[in-house]
Amino acid sequence: MAINIETQHDHYAVFGNPIAHSQSPAIHQAFAEQQQQDVVYQANCVAAEQFATEVRTFFAQGGKGLNITLPYKRDAYELADHLSQRAQQAGAVNTLTPEQDGTIEGDNTDGVGLLRDLNHLHWPIQHKQVLLLGAGGAARGVLAPLLQAKPAALVIANRSLDKAQALVTDFAKLDLQCTLQARALTDLAGLHFDLIINASSAGLTGDFPQLPPTLLSGHCYCYDMSYAAEATPFIQWAKTHGAVAVSDGWGMLVEQAAEAFYLWRGVKPDTAPVIAWRRRNNPSCH
Ligand code: ATR
Repeated sequence: MAINIETQHDHYAVFGNPIAHSQSPAIHQAFAEQQQQDVVYQANCVAAEQFATEVRTFFAQGGKGLNITLPYKRDAYELADHLSQRAQQAGAVNTLTPEQDGTIEGDNTDGVGLLRDLNHLHWPIQHKQVLLLGAGGAARGVLAPLLQAKPAALVIANRSLDKAQALVTDFAKLDLQCTLQARALTDLAGLHFDLIINASSAGLTGDFPQLPPTLLSGHCYCYDMSYAAEATPFIQWAKTHGAVAVSDGWGMLVEQAAEAFYLWRGVKPDTAPVIAWRRRNNPSCH
């Protein structure tokens, strides 16, 4: 259903489907209160055939910015009139902003969100052996900033090897200072990692795959880019096999929102209290 915009506030929203679970309105409201910004931020469940129309209507009515979540990040990429470099690299857009001339700018703040959260957690990437699970849109969205953080090696492991190989072919064009490799999930025996990032929906759709427990070196951190009230299947697996620390994607969600807030409002919210608020209440991430 389209959002009705009143003019006395600046209006923002997140569009997705489903959207009921979205924490973005609460996060943006927390930022707005903290920074004393007069904004209204709503969540809107949009039908696929209505996506482009609803985006254009929102901006035509004076909406100041949109976040785009599943399953429309690729549609937003196609719809945007201009793309930031990070949106081009990600092949997806999670933030739309109207320009003065009526065109729409597409950006992607997911990668910077992940990197900032890993930084807060003090989980190093530089010179480390990193495993990225998954080769869908979520993996593509974070690959460039991960590579820019200069791991010693990054392995993309996916159920369908061809999709991991396609990502390696695309991203090998960047000026890499690390080894980038594609593997099938069934071909990981004998490898050890310092950091494992789950960008797949494994376990949420179907069974969590059988991975060799030896993937976790003596001191391995495990990060799940998704978040849920309960420990995700990946986090359960990581804890069972001795990860030194685990985290779900709550901090990434807050950080990508903070970057969008900054693009729109020109002020950087303090993310620490918003991240801490939920981490205190959720034993699956620490
Ligand atoms: P997203 O945009 O969220 O990344 P996606 O493009 O559908 O969504 O990608 C989902 C990812 O999770 C893919 O890497 C997918 O593997 P395939 O490319 O082989 O389909 C992975 N995935 C989903 N369910 C899985 C499962 N049960 N086991 C292993 N990998 C799974």
